[in-house]
Amino acid sequence: MSELKILQVSAEYFPLIKTGGLADVTGALPGALRALGCEARPLLPGFAAVLDGLQDPVEVGRCDLPWGRWVRVLRGQLPDPEGGAGHTTAYVIDSVALYQRPGGPYETPERQPHPDNHQRFAALAWVAVALAHGLDADWRPDLVHGHDWHAGLVPACLKAAGPPFVPSVFTVHNLAYQGLFARADFDGLGLPWHWFQPDGVEFHGQLSFMKAGLHYADRLTTVSPSYAREIQTAEFGCGFEGLLRHRHAALRGILNGIDERVWHPGRDRHLAAHYGADSLERRALNKAALQAESGLQVCPERPLFTVVSRLTEQKGLPLVLQACDLLVEQGAQLLVLGSGDAGLESAFRLKALQHPGQIAVRLGYDEALSHRIFGGGDVILVPSRFEPCGLTQLYGLAYGCVPLVRRVGGLADTVTDTDLLSLVDGSATGVVFERMERGDFEYALRRMLALYRRPQDWRQVQRTGMARPLHWSDAAASYLTLYRELLGRC
Ligand code: ADP
Ligand code: GLC
Repeated sequence: MSELKILQVSAEYFPLIKTGGLADVTGALPGALRALGCEARPLLPGFAAVLDGLQDPVEVGRCDLPWGRWVRVLRGQLPDPEGGAGHTTAYVIDSVALYQRPGGPYETPERQPHPDNHQRFAALAWVAVALAHGLDADWRPDLVHGHDWHAGLVPACLKAAGPPFVPSVFTVHNLAYQGLFARADFDGLGLPWHWFQPDGVEFHGQLSFMKAGLHYADRLTTVSPSYAREIQTAEFGCGFEGLLRHRHAALRGILNGIDERVWHPGRDRHLAAHYGADSLERRALNKAALQAESGLQVCPERPLFTVVSRLTEQKGLPLVLQACDLLVEQGAQLLVLGSGDAGLESAFRLKALQHPGQIAVRLGYDEALSHRIFGGGDVILVPSRFEPCGLTQLYGLAYGCVPLVRRVGGLADTVTDTDLLSLVDGSATGVVFERMERGDFEYALRRMLALYRRPQDWRQVQRTGMARPLHWSDAAASYLTLYRELLGRC
């Protein structure tokens, strides 16, 4: 059978442009699929960091956009992360007007959405269509796989463009970001006018890119089996639950994995001391270094609880704020690395001021520090309200930084609670709590503290988590099966 050709469309790609786990996934998947004999080429917006990282760019063609502009499409090579030997061929949309400006990929420096986001990400979709229809004479994808709302228009545009009909897969990483725009923004994007209706791209009077993906894609996936079930309910469906129930036969949950080129405690270049399951005592060096660099009292006995997170509503961090005093009272420390909501940022800063030496907060985005936290912290806290998959608990598991998580979404699918039974049968990997309530969370903290004080059990739980990291090869195999089913090439 000939090698499958997949065009992977996303706004983020590790290591070039990342605001969250989406980038980790899109950065890892092409390599994992390559290992299975399938070529996935990313298509990315030409943000400055992406153009800077694209090697040997050549122009493959120009693409006319329905609102009277055109863009250049480049093809080049993206190097593997961490100096790996492989390269990934990628397409990048070269448009200064659309993508090169101050601020983040989606927001202005004042944290407001860029006013032309509908055009910036509709352009991504129309270029995907052009490539699917042969813009690059040397390579034409068998199918197009889009990620999150930024690529939500891809399945719709593929259908609107007419033959040749190239099938699409759309992966939901987070239903809460819906790509909503005013009715007026719909005009000019090149979709049939009558698609602006509830049985199309309209969502309560607005245009939703997420809904376009959910409605028009041939197959839908999300990043864990639990989240695939949850989003069909009113509690987690963000208003799309009816549509998702309607499309449930096309929907599948495929768990994310860990990119071992980037996340491996035995060779992580950010760590002072490398280690494995049999040399966990070496983590003490990392812990001491981490305590010192973050202004915490350097003290091996104090359990070091950590957070690495976007500071948003989703992540349940008010629970951690409420528990700060308890943690310190119990002789523990807390280190928070995060950025986002201004209220949460200042609340954590205040806690650090109240407990100098025991609570420390680093506001901002710091990839290297995140590695040192997993390599030196004792516990990673992920008390999310909802969590499509979650990667930080996976990094915690792989690094022996024991996860404390809420039983929701991908967290529920990846962490096994510690109790007498799971200790005895050797399946315990963390601590899991049920409800978004202070009492439940604090009880979980106390259980974690008790476990920490039983060194033998603690080591066992660390080792069990480290022994079975979720590899990308498993996820890639599931995507490949899905692609083959869709193309009728089983
Ligand atoms: P989400 O995508 O919802 O933010 P995930 O757990 O899937 O959650 O992925 C978050 C990714 O972003 C992980 O790679 C995590 O290490 C990283 N991350 C989050 N916040 C920060 C930060 N402030 N500094 C460095 N890395 C961060
Ligand atoms: C989203 C989700 C997160 C998931 C990530 C990668 O950002 O919030 O749970 O791990 O995408 O799929």
